Amino acid sequence: MEPRHDTPADAIRRLEALPRIALTPLPTPLHRLPRFSEALGADVWIKRDDMGSVALAGNKVRKYELLLGQALAEGADTLITTGALQSNSARAGAAAAAQLGLRCVLVLTGEPPAERRANLLLDDLFGADVRFVGRLAWSELAPVLDATAAEVTRAGGQPYVAPVGASSPLGSLGFALAYRELLDQLRQAGLGGGEHGDATEPLLVHTSTSGGTHAGLVVGRELSGRGPRPIGVDAGRVLPDPARDLARMATEAAAMIGLDRHFAEEEIAVELGYAGPAYGSITEEGVAAIRLLAATEGIVADPVYSAKGLAAVVELARSSRHGGRPIVFWHTGGWHANFDPHYGDALR
Ligand SMILES: Cc1ncc(COP(=O)(O)O)c(C=O)c1O
Repeated sequence: MEPRHDTPADAIRRLEALPRIALTPLPTPLHRLPRFSEALGADVWIKRDDMGSVALAGNKVRKYELLLGQALAEGADTLITTGALQSNSARAGAAAAAQLGLRCVLVLTGEPPAERRANLLLDDLFGADVRFVGRLAWSELAPVLDATAAEVTRAGGQPYVAPVGASSPLGSLGFALAYRELLDQLRQAGLGGGEHGDATEPLLVHTSTSGGTHAGLVVGRELSGRGPRPIGVDAGRVLPDPARDLARMATEAAAMIGLDRHFAEEEIAVELGYAGPAYGSITEEGVAAIRLLAATEGIVADPVYSAKGLAAVVELARSSRHGGRPIVFWHTGGWHANFDPHYGDALR
């Protein structure tokens, strides 16, 4: 495809004109965390993507608004998606499919568990056809998804395949929209809103794995020409080379809306120090951060994902690295997994 040389304003118009299905009331709240801030000695705010949407779908719902917008525009009747056994993305897809009257097939990595708990229980309640495919690496899933799509087609259905974490360039654009939503809220709250480097501009921290959230925020910042640079806290090396892969996803997402911008990996702020030894690890600092947020504010996070970003916020707040700036934690949801004893027990 020929690169287009549209202005950011053209790209914003294209972004806003993408087919989109409303799955969540927006904007999600942005508010200060007074008691958490006091405990940490810093000014900490939270963006509540853990609230509101269908089955409290978290960050994934913003991606599904665009993916399912495209799916319906193409006449799809079956959503196929994939992830780990306790995948939040798969559960969010199943809930959205139920809401829209689509069939849903979930291809989950891992062996069938003895009992369906937490996200797996919800997948079942939402009527998803759950397939357990054993211990495949996420990179090995493509042929399985292709075969599942072929099976749906043979049965007379029309499949739409959403990737791991719903993190395609199109899905990530949900977070380009979200970034613009945040900027409006920051302005209203008197946080930043000026040029880059404004002393009130907050630090923006979120958890990142398959990358759509981070890549979309990067594109949203580019479109807006200002605002805090998102800091993605890696929760487990799902991407082989996070900064490079995120830069590529952001570049592809920008191109989809006519923005000819090549992001370099040096422009992407990734924190790799909070994931623990592997994807799914439960870390001591993550559990401490969950307990502090819950005890001071009545807000719940999960150990696999949001705890990683939250632990980075706690460390940043306690250090002098924030330089007196406010910190905004983007809560990406996902605490349903706490109701699986594997995760819940770790919180005791
Ligand atoms: C609760 C939660 N937070 C953050 C993420 C990471 O988002 P992304 O996959 O867009 O990097 C996920 C991904 O599954 C998640 O479930």
